[in-house]
Amino acid sequence: MSGSILPAQSVIHSLPNTQWDEPVNNASAVEALEQGKVLFLPNLAFDLSAAEQLLLKPELVDAKRKNISFNPQTGKVNGVAVEDTTPQVKALLERHYHHSQQLVNALLPEYRAELHTPNNTLRLHPVTAWRASSSWRKDDSRLHVDAFPSRPNHGERILRIFTNINPNGESRQWRVGEPFPQLAQRFMPRLKRYSPLSSWLQHRLGITKRYRSHYDHLMLQLHDAMKADQSYQQQGPQLALELPAGSSWICFSDQTPHAAMSGQFMLEQTFLLPVSGMKNPQNAPLAILEKLQQKTLI
Ligand SMILES: [Fe+2]
Repeated sequence: MSGSILPAQSVIHSLPNTQWDEPVNNASAVEALEQGKVLFLPNLAFDLSAAEQLLLKPELVDAKRKNISFNPQTGKVNGVAVEDTTPQVKALLERHYHHSQQLVNALLPEYRAELHTPNNTLRLHPVTAWRASSSWRKDDSRLHVDAFPSRPNHGERILRIFTNINPNGESRQWRVGEPFPQLAQRFMPRLKRYSPLSSWLQHRLGITKRYRSHYDHLMLQLHDAMKADQSYQQQGPQLALELPAGSSWICFSDQTPHAAMSGQFMLEQTFLLPVSGMKNPQNAPLAILEKLQQKTLI
């Protein structure tokens, strides 16, 4: 990496929590998070029992899927290859979901009533495995912001809580990129024009679960333009982060450019948050893109 290295204080906000339900002075945490920083909790581990540790093997994931996922609202688990381990896997993911809820209540109480559509993911493959087999668009070792191609979210925020559960003490290596306003300004001139007709058609044909708004179009374009730009990947502003086993971290993954470089075994809790549920809605990618485009995008 020969790009400009971002100062740590502009990228990361560390918190001393050791317990998931530990109340803390939260004002600075929510401010930092909404500025696009990673909230880093180096001492917030998620302990696995001896029986749960036995689940930490890539063969447990259905060969057709990248990960195992759990929907707390339906109770459904997807992606387990070994059927009789499903109850154990479900209990593990459900527990991480409940811990994540406790963490939100303690650290980000203003979001408590606003977060919705929870989803929990168990990542068992080493980052390097899917990196080798992915197209550039799916290669998450390239800096990107998250955007869901088939599930347009109409500006809602993607909040993610990650926990490194590697049993061998292996860190997860990330790269984190520049603040969203700079990112958007840099890439906006290259993003392709929005076609309402094409969005209508994609929805009609069931390619997208709902209508892809102008906002969703720009976010997907941004995701792709970042990943396709090798020189930005290498020379764009960034900082390498080491996220040790036994640590957790939180970010808005639709706002914070991130890339997973190495590591294995992680739990990830995703929530959606309406822009109106933010403390500073003007920091939302929707608000920043609307300001740049000088029009409503939803
Ligand atoms: Fe991502």
